[in-house]
Amino acid sequence: SDIEKGTYPHYMLKEIDEQPVVIRNIIQKYQDENGALTIDENIVSAMKEADRIYIIAAGTSNHAGLVGKQFIEKMAKVPVEVHISSEFGYNIPLLSKKPLFIFISQSGETADSRAVLVSVKEMGHKALTITNVPGSTLSREADHTLLLHAGPEIAVASTKAYTAQIAVLAILAEVTAKAKGLSLGFNLVQELGIVANAIEILCDSKEAYEDIARSFLATTRNAFFIGRGIDYYVGLEGALKLKEISYIQAEGFAGGELKHGTIALIEDGTPIIALATQESVNLSIRGNVKEVVARGANPCIIAMKGLEQEGDTFIIPEVHELLTPLISVIPLQLISYYAALHRDCDVDKPRNLAKSVTVE
Ligand code: G6P
Repeated sequence: SDIEKGTYPHYMLKEIDEQPVVIRNIIQKYQDENGALTIDENIVSAMKEADRIYIIAAGTSNHAGLVGKQFIEKMAKVPVEVHISSEFGYNIPLLSKKPLFIFISQSGETADSRAVLVSVKEMGHKALTITNVPGSTLSREADHTLLLHAGPEIAVASTKAYTAQIAVLAILAEVTAKAKGLSLGFNLVQELGIVANAIEILCDSKEAYEDIARSFLATTRNAFFIGRGIDYYVGLEGALKLKEISYIQAEGFAGGELKHGTIALIEDGTPIIALATQESVNLSIRGNVKEVVARGANPCIIAMKGLEQEGDTFIIPEVHELLTPLISVIPLQLISYYAALHRDCDVDKPRNLAKSVTVE
């Protein structure tokens, strides 16, 4: 590849470390001369006119979409559905009167997503593609494009594209809210700056994540990620990262859903990675941790500063409660990276996977 790894042993580690720079770059790219966030006014009109937004994406991009739904609903007050591209294609739900489709795709080439884009365009609907690759198929075929500005992502397991997607979705939600005359009560530029600094701090404590990966995940067969609300969505991404590159059977679960089945799988030493970044569900996720620990699970608890309790494994810096996915995913990316390393897996090119999947 033309892109150099430099002193990095793997592209994945390099791309994880690039995330603070990517976030700062995105802020700049979407700022006007007065420092206010801005996007193409045609996109803003499309967002304002839509009575419902349908986010269509696969894999990690789908997980970013779940977080984006929270932003768009909470900030811009537009209802959002998030769908898996391959499912949506043959099972199109009843659509609202004025739908807007948002395709999220790092590569802009995913065939499952393209198939949906082709059919919704045929139906006469408007589409926006959020992608890292200018001129990609999904970008060319949609009405509008928002770019991630993350730089080429080489490792098959997506890291910086995920955080870039979330940052761009936050900006899209903010600009839409502003255009609708809604006030957010916080300054997104400032809050994203705080996020970039927090990611930097997290990337500086790699040994701690390596230690956890070695002690927790070097020999395990499975692992579970739990969280509630937005932490649940990040847990889905954490589990996907871990299974993609370390081949550990990993699943993300909503804390409250554990008792309806999954808790049967907990044995002595089963690794559980729990996220606690949301004040409103801090007590309930702590309750879930107690339930699994009582059945022998080995917990790794990642809590946001201000919500920490004795015995937590990692305390991550405090950021705005809507933006926590941008930082809580960093430990999960690093833990997956080191787990794969300690299991002698090919980190950048995991078996059976392709960076962009151009077949349905
Ligand atoms: C492939 C990659 C995943 C990625 C997914 C969607 O399966 O291995 O890392 O999340 O495609 O890709 P896209 O380019 O559409 O975001």
